[in-house]
Amino acid sequence: MPSNQVRPRPEFYEIFASEEIEEIIYSLEAKKEIPYKFCFKDQGAITWDKSYLDQTKNENLPIQEVVDLLRLNFEYIHELIRAKKTINIIDIGQGNSYSVQHFITQLSKVANIKSYTAVDISRDMIYISERNIREWFPLIQFQGYNCDIESSEFINVLEPAIENNEQSVNLFLYLGAMISINENRSKILGNFKKIMNLGDLLILSNFLEFSDNFTHILSSAKFKRYSWIAELIGIGASNCKINAGLTDDRNIKFSKIEMNRDYIIEFNFDGETRIVKLSQGEEVTLWKCIRTTIPQLLKDIDVSKLKLRQLSTDKIKPHVLVICESLPN
Ligand SMILES: C[S@@+](CC[C@H](N)C(=O)[O-])C[C@H]1O[C@@H](n2cnc3c(N)ncnc32)[C@H](O)[C@@H]1O
Repeated sequence: MPSNQVRPRPEFYEIFASEEIEEIIYSLEAKKEIPYKFCFKDQGAITWDKSYLDQTKNENLPIQEVVDLLRLNFEYIHELIRAKKTINIIDIGQGNSYSVQHFITQLSKVANIKSYTAVDISRDMIYISERNIREWFPLIQFQGYNCDIESSEFINVLEPAIENNEQSVNLFLYLGAMISINENRSKILGNFKKIMNLGDLLILSNFLEFSDNFTHILSSAKFKRYSWIAELIGIGASNCKINAGLTDDRNIKFSKIEMNRDYIIEFNFDGETRIVKLSQGEEVTLWKCIRTTIPQLLKDIDVSKLKLRQLSTDKIKPHVLVICESLPN
């Protein structure tokens, strides 16, 4: 094997399904990127949860702005669903579910929450959510759906979780950094619209601005959380120079590694061999967050044929929360 040739470690093929490996190869070739959404799988779920809980010991919850915006909008949300007998919560990319703990506690005092459905690309993250939800809310039925909301399978996979009757409402949550991790916002909102019944609600939140501070992304704990797939593939992220920054329009905050030498990566799966070449000096994006402006968000909501019911912002940590309703087609 030539000295610049590497092969992913065997665990790589255990953690990622064939279509995910295809996506990683395509992203590496076409975009010079390993999609950040995959970092929450396997060990990534455990380290994310641990670092989240470590942060809560020292300061506020990392997603305090989401908790605050849900609290601020609680009465309004309750008013919209007050007439329904039962509520099904569908939390898309729920992480460890901490960001909704307070909201569900509040809601369960005034409404009948029948089920909580966790929908996540990471099975391991679903296990963490299940452990928490069962402990906090033993009377609420927990369901977990392992799927990538960017895939075309999303609607078929999730369909059985959606209750369709006049007495119940499905409350879709898409909170925290979710929309900033996923690429195709309008397609995702369009998929939500397709799966929502008339009167169902979608609550989503995202950043409005990025700071010029990169310390957090570059801390060694965070770097380990998003570089482990590159290590598994064999491109030795820890030996590479790390470049963190913001695009000129300030819409994307990123962290990239600069290849310290040429690499020929040999993927072997489903009886096929696939080669990806990276040259010395080329950069590979490992972490990326996409900002949403309010006009962009409103346009995406409009195009997706969802009806905006409420928009609120957190002025201290620029963050937006919107509540949308499904309209007739
Ligand atoms: C930042 S974390 C948690 C966000 C959570 N909603 C919160 O407010 O704390 C993002 C979560 O979304 C999941 N995720 C990211 N991209 C996804 C995708 N395309 N499909 C499904 N889940 C995804 C990750 O596995 C992770 O659990």
